[in-house]
Amino acid sequence: ASAYEEKDLVIIGGGVAGYVAAIKAGQEGMKVTCIEKRGTLGGTCLNVGCIPSKSLLNNSHLYHQILHDTKKRGIEVGEVNLNLTQFMKAKDDAVSGLTKGVEFLLKKNGVEYIKGTGTFVDEHEIKVALNDGGETSVRGKNILIATGSEATPFPGLEIDEKRVITSTGAIALEEIPKTMTVIGGGIIGLEMASVWSRLGTKVTVVEFLGQIGGPGMDAEIAKATQKLLKKQGMDFKLNTKVVSGDKSGELVKLEVDAAKGGKPETIESDVVLVAIGRRPYTGGLGIENIGMELDDRGRVIIDSEYRTKIPHIRCVGDVTFGPMLAHKAEEEAVAVVEFIKKGYGHVNYGVIPSVMYTYPEVAWVGQTEQDLKDQKIPFRVGTFPFSANSRAKTNLDTDGMVKMIADPETDRLLGVHIIGPNAGEMIAEGALALEYGASTEDIARTCHAHPTLAEAFKEAAMATHSKAIHF
Ligand code: FAD
Ligand code: NAI
Repeated sequence: ASAYEEKDLVIIGGGVAGYVAAIKAGQEGMKVTCIEKRGTLGGTCLNVGCIPSKSLLNNSHLYHQILHDTKKRGIEVGEVNLNLTQFMKAKDDAVSGLTKGVEFLLKKNGVEYIKGTGTFVDEHEIKVALNDGGETSVRGKNILIATGSEATPFPGLEIDEKRVITSTGAIALEEIPKTMTVIGGGIIGLEMASVWSRLGTKVTVVEFLGQIGGPGMDAEIAKATQKLLKKQGMDFKLNTKVVSGDKSGELVKLEVDAAKGGKPETIESDVVLVAIGRRPYTGGLGIENIGMELDDRGRVIIDSEYRTKIPHIRCVGDVTFGPMLAHKAEEEAVAVVEFIKKGYGHVNYGVIPSVMYTYPEVAWVGQTEQDLKDQKIPFRVGTFPFSANSRAKTNLDTDGMVKMIADPETDRLLGVHIIGPNAGEMIAEGALALEYGASTEDIARTCHAHPTLAEAFKEAAMATHSKAIHF
């Protein structure tokens, strides 16, 4: 990199937001530099988030199923052993394959990739402390902040990623703990609790609110999810707040307080997973050097075109507003490049699906009943249980349901909430329907192949405006 060549776009952060923007800008013929300090591309998602967690979820589910769910299928297995080293290697291989793939894509699209930490010198110049030592600097006509997020720490309980861990430690434990307490029953908490519980750890989830699943999960679905996870062996303490922690002894101690007048309690476990949310990350970025402001939650403030108060410096992904999801970051990355290049771009924040990859999966898109009640918007609900779906029956996998919410006057679909096998794939149909402004009758009149789980989606649509056939 040369200090004298001004790039069309300099991107700080090579996570999903940063690398997707880099590829898109390259495709648009822009001269692009992407600065990433991790040593590999793909950010939290590819390195320590979405990808490794899904590898562990998939393979731990398979293991658990082989142990507990083969007899009734007429399959008799002999001795089953877990090789944790190979189990982790399968995850590492998925990660390295994908991160290298991203590096190849940047090259293919003519993006300059610098491994180092970027810091603002002024509104156009970024100084980079190179990972291999030394320093360089780049100038950009446009600059994109895509520095992502980090786990929110629990006050007074130092993270060592061995006994007191975040999700980063939870995807890399070297042995199976006997006991684990999870602080926070949100998505990270429940996905990681699922992995270790399936491998044999006794897991207790402590959640401050009266409902698991974190923000946005439909209350009825959250309750059903909790019941199924409990059946798998997880313990839950809801309406319970962790007040303090102490890891000086052999076991990690947590003092918890029941929110509704219960008595305080001490929980001891081998490992404590802190999963109380994530916070925007701007450390080392030198935003103070350009007088940039953050809001009270540490997010970079932007307008509807992703511009900070310095218009040629824009920002997308976890470090700014909105749900901290990889596909949201990806949509924004494409849109921000379109704004820079063409002056227009678009993300529909009303149609961003959420998926929790537990077993069964939980997925939703659009509005919840609670959202609509709060806004005093009338709605109609239709549900269809997987126990009445032929494919779920043949699969011996009938827990869960599809729930649809529609406008009672126009029948326009307002929200879809699914708990069940393959909910994460099925929700794409809900997103498409919402994006196109479909009515539940439109969905019901669309021919769905038989026998598929997707027929439950169609029948829930039937149930929303009329009657399902099979229930
Ligand atoms: P990040 O991915 O955090 O990337 C930011 C990058 O910027 C980082 O690599 C960082 O090293 C780099 N950086 C920061 N500062 C600098 C600097 N000054 N100079 C150079 N580089 C810098 N989302 C989903 O949609 N689906 C999932 O299944 C899912 N699973 C998850 C599981 C876990 C355990 C976790 C923790 C998260 C998960 N997420 C999931 C969320 C997802 O990972 C994030 O929403 C996504 O990574 C956000 O992308 P980003 O590019 O904004 O930020
Ligand atoms: P979260 O916000 O989803 O859940 C945190 C939970 O912790 C909340 O339910 C909250 O009430 C609870 N909590 C907070 N303080 C507490 C305390 N002192 N005691 C007990 N409970 C407490 O955050 P989480 O699970 O850490 O995940 C962060 C983000 O990462 C998610 O919001 C999501 O955006 C992303 N993510 C997405 C995944 C996916 O899409 N499948 C998977 C994993 C993460």
